[in-house]
Amino acid sequence: MTTTSRPDVAVIGAGVVGLGVAWRAVQRGLRVVVLERAALGQPDGAASPVAAGMLAPVSEADVGERALLDLGLRAAAAWPAFSAELGDDVGYRTCGTLLVARGADEAAALEREQALRESLGLHAERLLPSAARRLEPALAPHVRAALHVADDHAADPRRLHAALRTAALAAGVEIHTGADVTRLAREGTRATGVVLADGTTIEAGQVVVAAGAWSGTELGLPQDARVPVRPVKGQILRLRDPDGPGLLDRVLRFEGGYVVPRGDGRYVLGATMEERGFDTTVTAGGVYELLRDAIDLVPGIDELVIEETAVGFRPGVPDNTPILGRSAQVDGLVWATGHHRNGILLASITGDLVADVLTGTAAEVPA
Ligand code: GLY
Repeated sequence: MTTTSRPDVAVIGAGVVGLGVAWRAVQRGLRVVVLERAALGQPDGAASPVAAGMLAPVSEADVGERALLDLGLRAAAAWPAFSAELGDDVGYRTCGTLLVARGADEAAALEREQALRESLGLHAERLLPSAARRLEPALAPHVRAALHVADDHAADPRRLHAALRTAALAAGVEIHTGADVTRLAREGTRATGVVLADGTTIEAGQVVVAAGAWSGTELGLPQDARVPVRPVKGQILRLRDPDGPGLLDRVLRFEGGYVVPRGDGRYVLGATMEERGFDTTVTAGGVYELLRDAIDLVPGIDELVIEETAVGFRPGVPDNTPILGRSAQVDGLVWATGHHRNGILLASITGDLVADVLTGTAAEVPA
């Protein structure tokens, strides 16, 4: 593999995070090379092409995750300009989200969810089942309670990924696929580039690790310089309505899953949350549970065509909050990882935040 000249930045990983960082860094005048271990289009469990694309800081809000919530709200606010700047249609839909409950236990859990959102100053409107069904007539009659989150939307991660790749290449980013980085090249405590599996060394002024669920691998770093990123397996189905759009307009969330409409008759039904390392198997139990719950809530899903089953690995971290910014141990090493369930949402701001660190405009990513 040859690069045209010694880049200012080598980015490990060509998912939406790595490409977003590379694009923004080139826009700031840096020379950037992106190194992606997978061959183009080869499914390997990377999160970007598998993700459903919910832009849902309010629906995802959880106890003790204020920093993540604030980051998510900023990212959601940045999405309209982000998608407009990319130019290509990235499937950004301002569709809103319905959280629905069946039975007394789920209804009580939904009440707690609403109380949490109120305590955080977030807007989520309680709906009677009849009102929820007026919004989404395909809902089953036994829906017992619903919350309407009007500000949580969706985008198409595959279109986003393609658009970021196009934008990055047009801006001058060099992208190499099949480039498997095994470790950082270092001089003392400074990262000086990366070493590939074939022995090639690529020198670079700074190195960004945006390797998703693989960011916690050794990379030749001592234990205390690594990040605690682990794969959180998600099984997902891609469905298509032969009759076209109309079954669901909004994102639907329920205990154990969600359905994300693309607006053109395609739907993503996800997702399991499994701690099974890098296990890429699609299981009967995983698919069964997703379909069982979705069909119970929206009987019309029964008629949809299954176009794809897939597994993606979320880059999980202990506090669910991304790790963005300089390594405290290795000079010239910058992390852009740990986006867990929010990679597509946070794509709208991660590139800018990390590029500001790379150029020295910001000493660190603001909390
Ligand atoms: N963002 C939803 C998921 O990770 O399943």
